[in-house]
Amino acid sequence: EKEIKILAIESSCDETAAAVVVNGRDLRSNVISSQIDLHTLYGGVVPEIASRKHIEKINQVIEQALKEADMTLDDIDAIGVTYGPGLIGALLVGVAEAKALAYARNLPLVPVHHIEGHISANYIENPDLEPPFLCLVVSGGHTHLVRVLDYGKYEILGRTRDDAAGEAFDKVARAIGLGYPGGPKIEKVSHEGNPDAIAFPRAKVGDDVYDFSFSGLKSAVLNYLNGCRMKGIEIVQADVAASFQKAVTDVLVDHAMHAVEEYHADKFAIAGGVASNGVIRAAIEEACKARGVKFYRPSPILCTDNAAMIGAAAYYDFLAGKRAGMDLNAVANLKL
Ligand code: KG4
Ligand code: ZN
Repeated sequence: EKEIKILAIESSCDETAAAVVVNGRDLRSNVISSQIDLHTLYGGVVPEIASRKHIEKINQVIEQALKEADMTLDDIDAIGVTYGPGLIGALLVGVAEAKALAYARNLPLVPVHHIEGHISANYIENPDLEPPFLCLVVSGGHTHLVRVLDYGKYEILGRTRDDAAGEAFDKVARAIGLGYPGGPKIEKVSHEGNPDAIAFPRAKVGDDVYDFSFSGLKSAVLNYLNGCRMKGIEIVQADVAASFQKAVTDVLVDHAMHAVEEYHADKFAIAGGVASNGVIRAAIEEACKARGVKFYRPSPILCTDNAAMIGAAAYYDFLAGKRAGMDLNAVANLKL
């Protein structure tokens, strides 16, 4: 069987990343240049700064990925690239770079959906994982409960009606003075807090059992903080963090297990930046175990944005014959 070596590129938000993946699962290199320190100064991602930084870094990151894989462009069989969803200016840097490489080297160009990438991160460390399975994608921009019917074939069961889970982490972190990025900081301080200290709401969205809503929870936290300040009650940062994290966890587990039961799933995977949260991972794992469901999760470094996951997704898209031409454009609000 011929090996398909894919050079993958990801630049949809604030990570400039390149990776070499062989046959979708064998990770040869995974280079990530994070801009987090830069955006921390502003309390969040500044799109214009992200685009400029991608331009500065992208060639270096690609060279490094090839070098660490002990390859040159001569060894590469195809180029995979994220073309959406994401920040348009940031996406365009990766797409332009991928097109240039594909054109110059006469290589097939495989366009990859960012969420499909997150889901596919699970293939890298789990050689036994094959569709069908259920996947909960929780990131800074997305909260999707997905049925993975086959490679490249998805049915979205539910999505957030307002804020994404990671967005809620980031906003609550800012409100309690933790700064950006919120997820890892909330997780860290929550270890010293009591998750049952404050009863924040677990939102249900109408009859649509699989949809999520996190803006109500965020507002509840803000109201709680205001109430404390007005009444002169001390705010225990760790308790707020732990209680908020517990509320998010409960909702995610509830939706996930509802789907497991309805679809009689025997495999459940998580993905996206929020899936690197230890408390959330453990809770979903435990709920899966109790039901005899096999649980999959990428290593934390493959949960947050990276190009390895794009290389994994690109391989299956490549096998399915998916190709882009030189007219490939970035699509900020690309649908799965
Ligand atoms: O997948 P990702 O890197 O980028 C998007 O595609 O959005 O996800 C970033 C999000 C941020 O909102 C960040 O706060 C959140 O993932 N995140 C976490 C943790 N690490 C990152 N949320 C909760 N706990 C964490 N440990
Ligand atoms: Zn992402």
